[in-house]
Order: sequence, then structure tokens, then C-alpha cells
Amino acid sequence: MSKLLLINGPNLNLLGTREPDIYGNTTLKDVEDQITKFANENGMELSTFQSNHEGQIIDAIHDSRMKYAGIIFNPGAFTHYSYAIRDAIASVDVPVIEVHISNVHKREEFRHTSVLAPVCEGQIVGLGITGYKLAVIAFKERLSL
Ligand code: DQA
Repeated sequence: MSKLLLINGPNLNLLGTREPDIYGNTTLKDVEDQITKFANENGMELSTFQSNHEGQIIDAIHDSRMKYAGIIFNPGAFTHYSYAIRDAIASVDVPVIEVHISNVHKREEFRHTSVLAPVCEGQIVGLGITGYKLAVIAFKERLSL
């Protein structure tokens, strides 16, 4: 079975209580459960990982080599400035789809730039947690499942 890795970056552990007007009321555990179920229904396995630490996320990207067919990644604020994570994505041959729950383009200027997008397969923005499901579908098609 094809395996995907879902990585959520800093502050996403607080989903459900963090700025609910922007990020909604669904907790990270609920998101992970829903996306795992959705991936299974679509013929894929999903592992989940969340970290508030840049180095741990870099390690998870490195460790994904030879294990995962793709990574669904909400990098949180690292999106906007982490060249180290950008280099990690560029260093592995595992395709990454960047997902943002909120529409970053409607928000503060600093959120309009993603330093990661140029090394990702694609980006899904502003569709709430549905964005994670759309990433699963994109990988399903890519893997011809
Ligand atoms: C986010 C958008 C980022 O700008 C922010 O720092 C986050 C969450 C989103 O999912 O909308 O932590 O990635």
C-alpha cells in the first residue's frame, strides 16, 4: 500500500483552540483521524507528525526517503522564512504538497510569500481542513491508484 506522511508544523498542535475564527474548531487529533480515514478509503496509508521545532521537521523530511510516496505538509509560519526546510525538501526525492488552512493571501503581507512553494509539487490554500483531503486526492492521482 502507498504511504503518505502528514506533517503539521508549529502551533498547529493548538488547532481547535488557536484563533478559531481563522483556523476553525477542529482539533489536530480530529484532523489527523479524518485524513487518515480518508487516505485509507482512497487506498493509501497515512502517518502523522507534528512538531514546533524546525530541526525535528527537517529530520522527518530526511527520514521520509524510501518510506513515503509523498508528504502533505502544513509548515505553519516556517512557510514564510525557513530556507533550511526548503533545502530539506529539495534534498529528498519525496514529493511535497504544501497545505494552508487559512487563505494566507487575504492576511498579513508576510504570509503572502512561501519560500517552500518553489520546491513543492503544489500548494493548497484557504480551503480549511478540506485542503488536506485535496492533497490526498492529488497524491492518489499522481500514484495512479
Ligand atoms: C498556516 C498559515 C501560516 O501563515 C501560519 O503561520 C500558520 C498556519 C495555515 O494553515 O493557514 O501557522 O500555515
